[in-house]
Amino acid sequence: MTALTVTINGRAYGPTEVRDDLSMNDFLREYLGMTGTKFGCGVAQCLSCAVIVDNPDGTSNTSPTCIVAAASFNGKSIRTVEGHAKNGELSTLQKAFITHFAFQCGYCTAGFLNEGQALLERLERQPVARADLEKTIAEALDGHLCRCTGYIKYHQAVRDVVLADAGRYFAS
Ligand code: FES
Ligand code: FES
Repeated sequence: MTALTVTINGRAYGPTEVRDDLSMNDFLREYLGMTGTKFGCGVAQCLSCAVIVDNPDGTSNTSPTCIVAAASFNGKSIRTVEGHAKNGELSTLQKAFITHFAFQCGYCTAGFLNEGQALLERLERQPVARADLEKTIAEALDGHLCRCTGYIKYHQAVRDVVLADAGRYFAS
């Protein structure tokens, strides 16, 4: 057993006694009722379960939750789809997803949203050349599966957010 303390969307949870084989996906969904994080394949192949991990050095990255133990997040800070909107207003990327009709059933959307957001934050820290944008987005979203095949629209939505703020995301 582990006494799990984790910060989620800026709020501290725990300590909560959890079995060491409890997945982070089950912790979020079954213990906290945060069902925005989905469970798809269960074997780290679709990334519908991905959340953002905020690292102490200020970087962020995504992690699947289906095969990762909740206990391994002890002391860490993560963000889920529930944390993107602020004061009832959707994030810029969420709005772009809607503008592009990027999702149909929405099952994959939380994973794509978290990946796209982590990419935007990475580009802020490490801007890329405009010529490398398409490849950069494609590589970032690679691995996320969408059964409704919204790949191009997700890509276009992320691209629109970047292009709308070129000074922030492009190397000069
Ligand atoms: S449910 Fe985690 S990768 Fe598919
Ligand atoms: S919108 Fe249905 S799986 Fe992607």
